[in-house]
Amino acid sequence: MKYINIKHPEQVASFAQAVTMGLGRDRGLFFPETIPPLSDLATLLRMSFVERSVEILTHFVDDAFEQKTLEKIVSRAFNFSVNVTPVETHVFALELFHGPSLAFKDFGARFLAECLSHLSSGPTTILTATSGDTGAAVAHAFFDQPEIRVVILYPEGRISQFQEKLFCTLGKNIETFAVRSDFDACQAIVKQAFEDQTIRQSIQLNSANSINIGRLLAQVCYYFEAVAQLPSHESIVVSIPSGNFGNLTAGLIARAMGLPIQKFIAATNANDTVPRYFDNNIWAPNPTKATLTNAMDIAEPNNFPRIEWLFKDSPKTLRSVIQPHAVSDVQTRESVSALYEINYIAEPHTALAYGALKNYLRDDEIGLFLGTAHPVKFNEIIEAEIDEAVPVPPGFESLMEQPLLSQVIEPDFELIKGRLLGSQNATLR
Ligand SMILES: Cc1ncc(COP(=O)(O)O)c(C=O)c1O
Repeated sequence: MKYINIKHPEQVASFAQAVTMGLGRDRGLFFPETIPPLSDLATLLRMSFVERSVEILTHFVDDAFEQKTLEKIVSRAFNFSVNVTPVETHVFALELFHGPSLAFKDFGARFLAECLSHLSSGPTTILTATSGDTGAAVAHAFFDQPEIRVVILYPEGRISQFQEKLFCTLGKNIETFAVRSDFDACQAIVKQAFEDQTIRQSIQLNSANSINIGRLLAQVCYYFEAVAQLPSHESIVVSIPSGNFGNLTAGLIARAMGLPIQKFIAATNANDTVPRYFDNNIWAPNPTKATLTNAMDIAEPNNFPRIEWLFKDSPKTLRSVIQPHAVSDVQTRESVSALYEINYIAEPHTALAYGALKNYLRDDEIGLFLGTAHPVKFNEIIEAEIDEAVPVPPGFESLMEQPLLSQVIEPDFELIKGRLLGSQNATLR
């Protein structure tokens, strides 16, 4: 399998190169040259999650790893459960939050960390921007790994306290910066660092963001697991709470491989660049708005060019397969309450996807909404809507008492550059 830089299609990379480089020339995103169709879906769906994921990923990693190594990578990365939980007739939650950082990001981050431990040579710096959950997943996946330094930027005050504690209390090889701005500003600094010649010549840099194709490929696997667990494999509609559109991209790759998903609902919050684009064909990001679903406060979704690339030969299909839908904070709160009424506690991103699904789902369809984070990560918002405390999962009871180790900084590229190259000029919190 070759990977194309979709900005400069003449740049072609192997899996190992695409994953270790993160981004192609001119900040271009890598994407598989072809999507391998799967021949025997029925057999595949009967396999265990790990066994099936190895089978799927074999097509993408090519000769980067021997079969035994890939099996080890996948079984170490995906060592927690994926649950499809019924919430009402024909409606199911795909719970992706049972990993170490309690969010779907664990799949991609852990797979990437395992791949890099086999592919990297010498000290590597992982530089990543997070709107909430990537930070924790990346920090936990690379924590205490030899020769790996992790630098994480996040928008100060725009992630939940539990999210912040999950990755800003670890220390050791994990450095965290609270940037006085929004997620887009953090992402812009990361992108600029990847373009900076001095940085590139001085350190080996990698981004563990969803711009790294390795992460997206790992996410493809749980769509197969979802379908395997559903009671019927027909007329499946999947609703995805979308920010950077990585999850949707992974779902579309799974569908292109032959997974029977009829439609995807791309549910956004008020950062509705994609729904408006579908309406009027004009790509016009507004300034980022802060919402209840902070991990999706992204006005310029990074992965959307990959989706357009996937459908470049059939743009009409893109519009028939994806139904975008923008959800207000009021509606999201209503969905948290509505789910609670039917005995399901969901955090806002998950509830937003449920609300969007209910808008479109017909009686003859099966609806699946993605549970992207554990409710405890957003307990304050949920507890304002429901009558009980959100239960803290085992192992996380003392997290909130740990001190934060982050540094607060202005959104200043030179400052981050200085830190990456070694100087200590950020203000301590
Ligand atoms: C809880 C949660 N839900 C949804 C999303 C959006 O996912 P994506 O960026 O893949 O669209 C994120 C992304 O950070 C998230 O953390």
